[in-house]
Amino acid sequence: MKCLLLVRSLVMPSIKIYRGPIARIPPVFAYFGDDGNIDVGCRILTRLSSSSSFQAPEPPQSHGQPVFPDVVVQNNAGLNDSNAFIRNNDADAVFVVNGASRGIGLQFVKSLLQRAKGKIVACCRSPSTAHDLQIIVSGHPERVRILPLDLEQQSTIDDLGNTITKEYQRVDALFNVAGILGDGITTPGPERTLASIERDWLEKSLAVNAIGPVMLTKALSPLMRTTGRRTITVEGQDGDQIKIDLPQGRPQTIVANLSARVGSISDNRLGGWYSYRLSKSALNQATKTLGLELKRQGTWILALHPGTTDTDLSKPFQKNVQKERLFPVDFTVNSLLDVTESMGDEHSGGYFDWAGKAIPF
Ligand SMILES: NC(=O)c1ccc[n+]([C@@H]2O[C@H](COP(=O)([O-])OP(=O)(O)OC[C@H]3O[C@@H](n4cnc5c(N)ncnc54)[C@H](OP(=O)(O)O)[C@@H]3O)[C@@H](O)[C@H]2O)c1
Repeated sequence: MKCLLLVRSLVMPSIKIYRGPIARIPPVFAYFGDDGNIDVGCRILTRLSSSSSFQAPEPPQSHGQPVFPDVVVQNNAGLNDSNAFIRNNDADAVFVVNGASRGIGLQFVKSLLQRAKGKIVACCRSPSTAHDLQIIVSGHPERVRILPLDLEQQSTIDDLGNTITKEYQRVDALFNVAGILGDGITTPGPERTLASIERDWLEKSLAVNAIGPVMLTKALSPLMRTTGRRTITVEGQDGDQIKIDLPQGRPQTIVANLSARVGSISDNRLGGWYSYRLSKSALNQATKTLGLELKRQGTWILALHPGTTDTDLSKPFQKNVQKERLFPVDFTVNSLLDVTESMGDEHSGGYFDWAGKAIPF
């Protein structure tokens, strides 16, 4: 087997892609570890700013045609005129993370604390039981605040929008991370067959994975405007009108939606996982559509595939995932932040993996 070692360095972040033969692997493995359904030899990548020593294999070649250019990951946060540098060095910037109680969302809070100087609103369903998040807040009470959010409950999305509007008056980056897959034992999903689909689970998956992120983006997008009008009036909880002077001269704001490769329609060669696939495809369509609209207000958006990451969500499926394809959560999040910090106007609305490679819709 060809064995190429590629360590991506700060100096030379370019990638040579090895296109290996498609491996024959059992569906249960391929379903989850769909970064693993192509033999990519042992080419290895490390991320620019990962604190982890983990080295990931090259992402697979997708089936279908991507409609966006790849994001060339570079150390933009180090370029002092870059969007990311300005946002990360602004102590008044506000980062909102949903799904912050555990897994990838919790790591976003940790990584943003290291990379950025601004405030972090960490949203979760049950702040009183989010112990890992509480520990972070106790170490950084001036920077991190926990607010309740259940993506299935529109009233909590409205309440969160109102609180952020009144108390922060701006949002610079929104990370829509929360998502559900199910374990196939205690939940109907992920389903292997049409016969196993249950309406309630399908509706719940759509509510958490697609509808919730769209409604939260709607609630916060007025606070993300960076072009045009600088003063906006928004309606408060009690019908009161709140006048807000948005910050001057800040760079484009960012919405990052946590998607999954299985949301790709053209890359779907295995079937199954109906509720999850449907909901992530819907999120991808929302991302593409919002990309066209939000560009006009100076907000960029992208859908991201994190790669198979060692969290509660992937636990039930990990036994068939090769060790080098199971990403530590800090590696994943730093990779995703590298991609968001390296994106440009031409990427807004697109769908990318953790290495910045465009995935076909
Ligand atoms: N891990 C992977 O390998 C992988 C692969 C591809 C894509 N992804 C995507 O990455 C994202 C994060 O996944 P993860 O691995 O970090 O999952 P995870 O460890 O299972 O965490 C899921 C998070 O979503 C929250 N959540 C669930 N239902 C919610 C609701 N109704 N309202 C608000 N929050 C809710 C959970 O909160 P509670 O603590 O309250 O339950 C938790 O914070 C998901 O969108 C997932 O689809 C993950």
